[in-house]
Amino acid sequence: MSATRVVVVGGGIIGLSIGWRCAQRGLTVTVHDSAGDDGAWYAAAGMLAPAGEAGFGQEALTGLLVESATRWPDFAAELERETGIAVGYDTVGTLSVALTADDLAEARRLWEYRREHGLGVSPLLPSAIREREPALSPRLRGGAHAPDDRQVDPRRVVAALRAALGPAIVRDRVTDLPASRPVVVAAGSGTAALTGLPVRPVKGLVLRLRGEPGLLRHVVSGWADGRHVYLVPRADGEVVVGATQEERVDATVTAGQVLDLLRAATDLVPDLGECELVETLVRHRPATPDNAPLLGAYGEGVVVAAGHHRNGVLLAPVTADLIAELVATGKSAPLLDAFAPGRFG
Ligand code: GLY
Repeated sequence: MSATRVVVVGGGIIGLSIGWRCAQRGLTVTVHDSAGDDGAWYAAAGMLAPAGEAGFGQEALTGLLVESATRWPDFAAELERETGIAVGYDTVGTLSVALTADDLAEARRLWEYRREHGLGVSPLLPSAIREREPALSPRLRGGAHAPDDRQVDPRRVVAALRAALGPAIVRDRVTDLPASRPVVVAAGSGTAALTGLPVRPVKGLVLRLRGEPGLLRHVVSGWADGRHVYLVPRADGEVVVGATQEERVDATVTAGQVLDLLRAATDLVPDLGECELVETLVRHRPATPDNAPLLGAYGEGVVVAAGHHRNGVLLAPVTADLIAELVATGKSAPLLDAFAPGRFG
């Protein structure tokens, strides 16, 4: 395939990023966006933490995450330059923390995994952790600094991508694959209905708190009595608290799950209890049987870029670059080999 025009089905962070990169290559782009703010990106906290999200043993996926992390600085800078919209790219890194001895054992496995993949991680004594983040609980048993981790604000990224694409975005719901070719299907969980590929929705509940700016400086990713939680602070005092992961399709916000997230969050950072709870939000991550994305050609004139599960924001730059290259030149980068959409038979 080698094209001068392309239709992208899906206006989430993946579809928009692909559309943007295709437009930069000179293609005439149309992005069909049925979702408004329904996509997983709207809940996403925006952690860019390559070893924090891949499961153990997911080597190919971890490689892709690491590669995409290296592309984020240019992606963010270019998008900001082109649109004048700041996307909240922040380089302060993650503090990975553990409340109990068992939590620390769990955390150490992740730190080892990071090291195996060449990612920096420096274990810190509790006193040193609290020097960096005084709001953390004095009860912490240990932690580490991951200086290579970054964060971005996904809502700002999508606003910038929408601005960059402007009238190329069409608001409508696509129920059948358009007859025109080439088509990129980047429709999240909706990819299943359009292509028959196995993409399922995985429920995630995320909270947004608002307090004094500066309560937290780092992203905090921690374990508290066996519960994992991440806390992503923004410059304006917002703190994103995430996230549940459930094999469910409903969008109910249950009291028990809000309680679990807040308990873990306040066990790690007691002052979060003083913050205003401004948002409880459920969105569904698009996941595949091996929880790695589907990336590449799938039939005549159809390319799929879907199923990014917990990693849609982090994987947006590498997905956009490689899928735009595939559409524009017909060349499939070797990095895509492990993610062929047809791999499940
Ligand atoms: N990437 C974080 C999450 O999916 O909860």
